[in-house]
Amino acid sequence: HSFEWTNTETDLNGYPHYMLKEIYEQPESIENAMRGRLSDEDASAHFGGLNIDAQRLRRAERIILTACGTSYHAGIVGEYLFEEFARIPVEVEYASEFRYRNPPMDQNTIVIAITQSGETADTLAALRESKRKGHPALAICNVVGSTIAREADGGVYLHAGPEIGVASTKAFTSQVTVLTLLALYLGRMRHLSSLQGTRMIEELRRIPDVIRRALKCHDKVKQIAEKYHQYNNMLYMGRQYLFPVALEGALKLKEISYIHAEGYPAAEMKHGPIALVDKSTPSIFLVPSGSIFDKVMSNLEEVKARGGPIIAIATENDPKAEYIATKADDVIFIPDVPEYLQPLVAVIPLQLFSYHVALLRGCDVDKPRNLAKSVTVE
Ligand code: G6P
Repeated sequence: HSFEWTNTETDLNGYPHYMLKEIYEQPESIENAMRGRLSDEDASAHFGGLNIDAQRLRRAERIILTACGTSYHAGIVGEYLFEEFARIPVEVEYASEFRYRNPPMDQNTIVIAITQSGETADTLAALRESKRKGHPALAICNVVGSTIAREADGGVYLHAGPEIGVASTKAFTSQVTVLTLLALYLGRMRHLSSLQGTRMIEELRRIPDVIRRALKCHDKVKQIAEKYHQYNNMLYMGRQYLFPVALEGALKLKEISYIHAEGYPAAEMKHGPIALVDKSTPSIFLVPSGSIFDKVMSNLEEVKARGGPIIAIATENDPKAEYIATKADDVIFIPDVPEYLQPLVAVIPLQLFSYHVALLRGCDVDKPRNLAKSVTVE
């Protein structure tokens, strides 16, 4: 690698594990991802290194986001953000699949690789293949000077600092933050009014404090982990912006506690996973307040009716909270934010939950078996 982190950055700073340290760094790492990139004057975001002229971006007819693992889950959040705010069709592709497929890509397609390390072999190959075909290929990357950062036509750094725990935490929230800024920027070129842009900027600026508050669920999450750490299967359910968070929560649990977990779009549950539900298969439901609250609650009740233990992630001070508490066995509360920002907040208890479950099972949380921080081989 052509980079080095300083000792102060890679110190445990009194934390027992890197993963916990990195979970707690998120208010700052998210702030760093936004620093200098929000413009009140333009009611938009701007970036120093995109290296692609505004006209070309304005003409983009399609964006392909490609990544692996946790970065792929951030990509799905990006898809929803770009479609809502910039009204650009987006596809999210596993880099390992995309590199060998030959999908039709017209000339106004922009490819964005998302990668913490900047060294993932499949993501690098997907980027090279896109460049070879003549598409602008950008990268959202954490490690400065990494191979993908160097080979991309341009891009955005996360500035999250070193992520050492194998299970990605702060890189995910920084990726989602950068994707939100990009959605704002692309949106402001197209359909968003300056008032809408200004409102997004205000909401984004509040996020570091919101994450600080969300971290206060820690003790509650730890208690819940003590209750559930001996189960062998778990389901994670979310819809819309929280579907990728369900995937990410399940991935975190698999990676470090070796418990089989699946993330699902909550309504898709009746097409398969509901067959798994019984008293020995708990489900974690993401049900914060918002447009789909009632729909997710009815999915939750279907699981309840079949005897599945339920942990709900809900919005604090939600008038419906009491109702949720009558249906769920355990409830974790998170601060209220607009729906498009919920992934950043809702992932926090899921990261902490997997951390504590893994510890209680005696697993090595920072260095799980069979996994590598960056996968530089195919
Ligand atoms: C490995 C890591 C994951 C990571 C994935 C993609 O599997 O263990 O945590 O999400 O690679 O890594 P990247 O560096 O490209 O984001």
